[in-house]
Amino acid sequence: MQKSKGVPSIAPKALLLALLLAPLGARAAEVSSPDGRIVFELGTDDDGGLVYSVKRDGAAIIDDSPLGLEFEHSAPLRDGLVIDSTEHRSHDETWEQPWGERRLVRDRHEELLARIKTSSGPDRHFFFRIRVFDDGVGFRYEVPEQPAYRELAIADELTEFRVPNEATAWFIPGRGWNRYELLYRELPAREITRAHTPVTLRYEDGSHVSIHEAALRDYAGFVLDNRGGGMLKTDLAPAGQGAPVSLEAPFKTPWRTVQIASAATGLLNSDLILNLNEPNLLGDVSWVEPGKYVGIWWAMHVGAASWGTGPTHGATTANARRYIDFAARHGFDGVLVEGWNVGWDDSWSANGDTASFVKEHPDFDLAAVAGHAAEHGVRLVGHHETFGNLSNYEQQMAAAFDLYEQHGIRQVKTGYVAGGGELVRSDEHAKRQHEWHDGQAAVRHFEYTLREAAKRRISINTHEPVKATGLRRTFPNWISREGARGMEYNAGWSLPNPPAHAATLPYTRLLGGPMDFTPGIFNLTPRESNPSHRIPSTLARQLALYVTIYSPIQMAADLPQHYEARPDAFEFIVDVPTDWEQSVALAGEVGDYVVYARQARDSRDWYLGAVTNEDPRSITIELDFLSPGLEYSATVYRDGDEADWNSNPYSIEIETRSVRHGDTLTIGMAAAGGMAIRMEAAK
Ligand code: NOJ
Ligand code: CA
Repeated sequence: MQKSKGVPSIAPKALLLALLLAPLGARAAEVSSPDGRIVFELGTDDDGGLVYSVKRDGAAIIDDSPLGLEFEHSAPLRDGLVIDSTEHRSHDETWEQPWGERRLVRDRHEELLARIKTSSGPDRHFFFRIRVFDDGVGFRYEVPEQPAYRELAIADELTEFRVPNEATAWFIPGRGWNRYELLYRELPAREITRAHTPVTLRYEDGSHVSIHEAALRDYAGFVLDNRGGGMLKTDLAPAGQGAPVSLEAPFKTPWRTVQIASAATGLLNSDLILNLNEPNLLGDVSWVEPGKYVGIWWAMHVGAASWGTGPTHGATTANARRYIDFAARHGFDGVLVEGWNVGWDDSWSANGDTASFVKEHPDFDLAAVAGHAAEHGVRLVGHHETFGNLSNYEQQMAAAFDLYEQHGIRQVKTGYVAGGGELVRSDEHAKRQHEWHDGQAAVRHFEYTLREAAKRRISINTHEPVKATGLRRTFPNWISREGARGMEYNAGWSLPNPPAHAATLPYTRLLGGPMDFTPGIFNLTPRESNPSHRIPSTLARQLALYVTIYSPIQMAADLPQHYEARPDAFEFIVDVPTDWEQSVALAGEVGDYVVYARQARDSRDWYLGAVTNEDPRSITIELDFLSPGLEYSATVYRDGDEADWNSNPYSIEIETRSVRHGDTLTIGMAAAGGMAIRMEAAK
């Protein structure tokens, strides 16, 4: 532990000249990554405002950018500040995930804790904690209780990230009506207006950078507003009433993160977001069960069944039994049933006030269905669509989870279908407030849900969630979430996800954590009432998605009859695991393609998945991830030579061959195609 007092401040206008003349350490607090390549520098400007920069190999990743907090009714932490003292700490630990894309995670970083105080007037102070890893940085504000700060309303966070205007950015627009369910844009950074994070950037020198946050708890999420000159400023989600964030000191903000890699795949192989989250708070979580599920779901999205009661009601006892029998026949763990409870009749998205999470529709017998599932070694997957009314759900939550627990249900998919800024909450005066999905009220609600669920050994898969910031480490029952355009957009009620979407998600949304994308559609013209609607995908690509999109729970989303018509391809979905010993992104470029290899947990077997955008592609990779000396039987599911998503999507070649460490493999993919491989180690 090193301690230094009274680190001098730096003046940004003099900075450039000074940089050329003097070693950095003399004028500012700085901390470097374990490998020495990344340097985080902290200093103050002429006004005593706190500024920072991040460099890699001497080149700016984040150029001088301001920091600070502004409060309603309390003096800001904005200017007149000095770095009072610093403490340095090294950390190297390997920790184990209960489930995940890899079992063991190494957390190796250098930490600098700076005490920042006001230079004059009554004392106000806070701590600024920085962690620098070989794959990026995280930093946060920690405000202790003090006479000036007790109850606080954070009006604005001043953190900015100055990036090169000419960098290429991939992002979805922030704070819109459709939450995070939007198409990615690829634009020069200067053309970002307001972006959700993760924002992914490629710099002109080929560096890849992702700006995001980790451990978003009891705080508002931020979007990034472009202030010009490459300055991306944190803009906290507003609250229904008052300041974006209200809390009491002591408090700490979520980590603000910048992941940095030479190649695009470097971002995918980074564990920085998880490493910045607190360890598991739930104790024994052996009841959190990764696995695969089917469900009464796609039929509603393609218009073949309804959520509400009526002649085509999907969630009937008889239909649920049929799905359970199918799941049992093919070894699935769960069966999701949507539309079983009261609230789905009429215009369902408007039923937030009246939905019941305990009353069944008359044609659905929960006890009988759960009993049938238990007899067949399958579990029901519960469903709570809140229609965006947080309070109606919270009032019924204990009873609703108790009911599911009684019926042996271990996973609940929740839903928050409401426009951005239109979640409903009844405040302490019973006044209706409207909240954002990433506002502090929603963030609190999601954590409350996890805690109530955990008491009943239930895991949560949130649709229309807040963005993923790695809280699955702290609450391992947050087993998956949506928070991007998933397969549902391909059902024909919207323009489908373009081919580049699946080649963009790993480098953007998935950097935050798992996604319940729900792959596996075999009938690629799924809407009977609109036969010209075609999903831009080949059949082989639908298999590859189980490997390229990480989630510990994966749905086989199509209707049972479409799987039974293609047992050859279906075999991959039956075989592929959802929990991994390790995962390696082998090759790829943002928005173009991705190739992943993953080793199954408790096994020597490997799986490979690759998807491309609208361009056909051939990539050669080395199988150097396989164990030397072992022989593997590889079952390859590839696009047929004549495959084409538009004219010949079902053309698939399934072949078995022997492979070993050191072999090279050529992955040929059709436009909007893909490849999936199962590699079984010889016994
Ligand atoms: C949107 C979810 O993403 C989808 O999976 C679900 O079926 C509907 N809401 C209804 O809850
Ligand atoms: Ca959705």
